[in-house]
Amino acid sequence: MGQIIALAMQKGGTGKTTSTLNLGVELAHLGKKVLLVDIDPQANLTSGLGVNPNDLKYSIYEVLLNPAKGTAFATLETNAGVDLIPSNLILAGAELELAGKIGRELMLRKALSKTAGQYDYVLIDPPPSLGLFTINALVAAGSVITPVQAQTYALQALPQLETTIALAKDLNQELEMKGLLITMFDRRTSLSPAVEKQARQQYGELVFKSIIPDATRLAEAPAYGQPIRVYAPGSAAATAYASLAQEVIMRYGS
Ligand SMILES: Nc1ncnc2c1ncn2[C@@H]1O[C@H](COP(=O)(O)OP(=O)(O)OP(=O)(O)O)[C@@H](O)[C@H]1O
Ligand SMILES: [Mg+2]
Repeated sequence: MGQIIALAMQKGGTGKTTSTLNLGVELAHLGKKVLLVDIDPQANLTSGLGVNPNDLKYSIYEVLLNPAKGTAFATLETNAGVDLIPSNLILAGAELELAGKIGRELMLRKALSKTAGQYDYVLIDPPPSLGLFTINALVAAGSVITPVQAQTYALQALPQLETTIALAKDLNQELEMKGLLITMFDRRTSLSPAVEKQARQQYGELVFKSIIPDATRLAEAPAYGQPIRVYAPGSAAATAYASLAQEVIMRYGS
């Protein structure tokens, strides 16, 4: 069984989607079979991979509402070398539809249980809110990697995430926090090194050595539907995600 990882952080705009996409693509480049799961109605992961969210036959919406069907029917192959369960705005309505269902927190877990074994890595990209989609991601996952933006006091948001992980453990005892990823690191500011220092002091080995720089090209690439290794090969940002992927493989042991 492969690793199922949720890139979760309840704060908005910390690099969850960018990191899911580029880490996934780099893992695939290292020979891993990778599935990316977009469980955010914003569908940034979907569009960032060059898939039009308005042009889908099936999406994560159908997966969540019919978990017994598995995920293969809604899975697309992308040009970037990863498979994708896409999302679109229709998903926004699913939160209400799911709310009345028994086992509503277990839908993604149930759906993935049939298919996750075909992948080395399944990376899930939840929305920033702590709603049912994030809970589904945390209940389906074996571990969490949290992107921490090095431009605000993002670390202050971590205790809330830890509380949520503790709650999700009621339904998923094996869930563990497996890594903090510093993103949007800007060496010209004093804040970024301060955030890094505090993160390493507080969380030690949990913090990945690889740091994602603040890079305009990372913000531009999604508009072209390209991962950073294609949009800006050899750039500092592309190198950082490549080195993160190696670190992830070391940390997870395969
Ligand atoms: N390292 C970076 N340098 C510069 N811009 C970045 C970087 N990482 C992400 N961005 C940009 O910052 C914005 C937020 O990033 P992203 O969408 O990955 O965050 P998120 O945590 O998924 O956000 P949300 O909480 O809305 O889902 C996007 O416009 C993205 O292109
Ligand atoms: Mg996102």
